[in-house]
Amino acid sequence: MKKLMTALLPTLALFLFVATPVMAEDGKIIFTRKGCTICHGTDARTTRGPDYPVLAGQHKDYLVAQLHELKAKKRTSVRSKEMIPFANSLTEEQMTAVAEYLSGL
Ligand code: HEC
Repeated sequence: MKKLMTALLPTLALFLFVATPVMAEDGKIIFTRKGCTICHGTDARTTRGPDYPVLAGQHKDYLVAQLHELKAKKRTSVRSKEMIPFANSLTEEQMTAVAEYLSGL
């Protein structure tokens, strides 16, 4: 058991070290592949219109919280109906990754 731990610890440390950049990279792929760019813009700034929020540079925790609110149908604006299916399509890990990416822009 001790041997196993000794073998695993460096791997774990390496994983933690690279986790943030990898997640941001994953977030970029998710943002593009899931079609988020259609409304929020390829740069997450040049949105489809004034009632489509700019996501670039927004706080990570805020973005994750909003995705949760949308998923739980707690946001009730007319436009939120467009967004809910996209929020529903994201797993917890994907939400974190996409928020990580967007907050770094
Ligand atoms: C069909 C257009 C459309 C697409 C595609 C879309 N969104 Fe949205 N999104 C919206 C609209 C509209 C809102 C604002 C909803 C509201 O007013 O409640 C929104 C809100 C959000 C918010 C909350 C922003 C804030 O400041 O409160 C986040 C985060 C978000 N979208 C992320 C995404 C992600 C990630 C994807 C891709 C998986 C995506 N959106 C795809 C239209 C879209």
